[in-house]
Amino acid sequence: MKIILGVSGSIAAFKAADVVRRLRERGDEVRVVFSKSAGKFVAPLTFSVLSGNPVLSDMFAPSAAVEHVALAGWAELLLVAPASADAIAKLAHGIADDPLATYALSHGGPIVLAPAMESAMWEHPAVAENVRVLRSRGVRFVGPVSGPLASGRAGVGRMAEPEEIVEAAIFRSAADLAGTKVLVTAGPTREPIDPVRFVSNRSSGRMGHALAERARARGAEVVLLTGSDRPVPPGVEAVRFETAGDLKSLLDARFDACDVLVMAAAVADFVPEKAPRRLHRSDGPRSLALSPGEDLLASVAARKGSRIVVAFAAEAGDGQEERARRKLAAKHADWIVWNDVGREGVGFESDDNEVVLLSATGQRVEVSRRPKKEIADKIWDAVSSTLSWRTIPAKI
Ligand code: CTP
Repeated sequence: MKIILGVSGSIAAFKAADVVRRLRERGDEVRVVFSKSAGKFVAPLTFSVLSGNPVLSDMFAPSAAVEHVALAGWAELLLVAPASADAIAKLAHGIADDPLATYALSHGGPIVLAPAMESAMWEHPAVAENVRVLRSRGVRFVGPVSGPLASGRAGVGRMAEPEEIVEAAIFRSAADLAGTKVLVTAGPTREPIDPVRFVSNRSSGRMGHALAERARARGAEVVLLTGSDRPVPPGVEAVRFETAGDLKSLLDARFDACDVLVMAAAVADFVPEKAPRRLHRSDGPRSLALSPGEDLLASVAARKGSRIVVAFAAEAGDGQEERARRKLAAKHADWIVWNDVGREGVGFESDDNEVVLLSATGQRVEVSRRPKKEIADKIWDAVSSTLSWRTIPAKI
């Protein structure tokens, strides 16, 4: 696994060296990022030798500004050990005044924290509230445990032992998609009619962006091809497209490198003939010639090999499930996400959705109405079950 170890200012920082050593022994790749005060307790040199990589400890070093962004796409897990009360507060509130806190904002992937502080601090309502906020965002905690503290007192606040931290980071990080390369398409295509007009559809890109965000949060390396101008989730590489033709070129270039393709984009089924110059009302009545476009998914998935392909089927009217099943087969998909776009309050342009997941092996999973981010997790649960079934030995 590719792990960023964040070290913050605490007397327990010396134990983080043992965490690096144990991760390296397991075969993990480790890059270390310091908080502002970590260097008062331990030296970057120790960590660069143990990790075999330079330590990001100076926010204002010439390469640091780009490095924290590059690292965000690289890492499958951010592990902060020790996590001081200050580091926890910065993560909870999005304060970015040191390398670790700044990195955390561009990370996007799974996060595990191993707190270390005096018991009075750990029990303070401010810290408890920050921990609650982080937990609600899916951040996992290992420890703190009860035992002797730096002050000479005893109580809860001692950092968990390195062995336990490593075990928790790897097995409880929910990084079930770590090591998986995911390609997600999202949003509408726009087909030009003339230099200033286009034909498009009602897709907002919400579902595809939510899929990219959740895949990244579960440890995947994510490329998002999007026709929407929604914000790109942290840690995700995004490429924008306009037309179905642009999307086809991007898919052709990116498909071979992925393990999973999720095709949430609403691709034009008809391509208008484009006028070479702007059309004017004074030109008189016009009709629009539309030619059927290529089925991008069917063409790319025909050479999928062992890749997993997820299609979408936006259906309305009678016989929907039957049509969705036919699309599942015609598009060489492993799963199809079928939704009834005729219903109120779900589907296109909405925050919620309600879908049924159908698999090529006959599974049928009904997902009741919920926010698109939660629908995205249900889709990744389905993909993850297919991945772990195929991967021998199981990936961690
Ligand atoms: N799709 C595609 N290329 C197209 C049209 C659709 O790759 N030209 C993909 C979509 O991204 C989606 C799936 O195929 O994952 C199903 O899309 P949908 O519009 O429901 O089906 P169509 O194949 O377009 O069939 P129809 O519109 O006739 O129902």
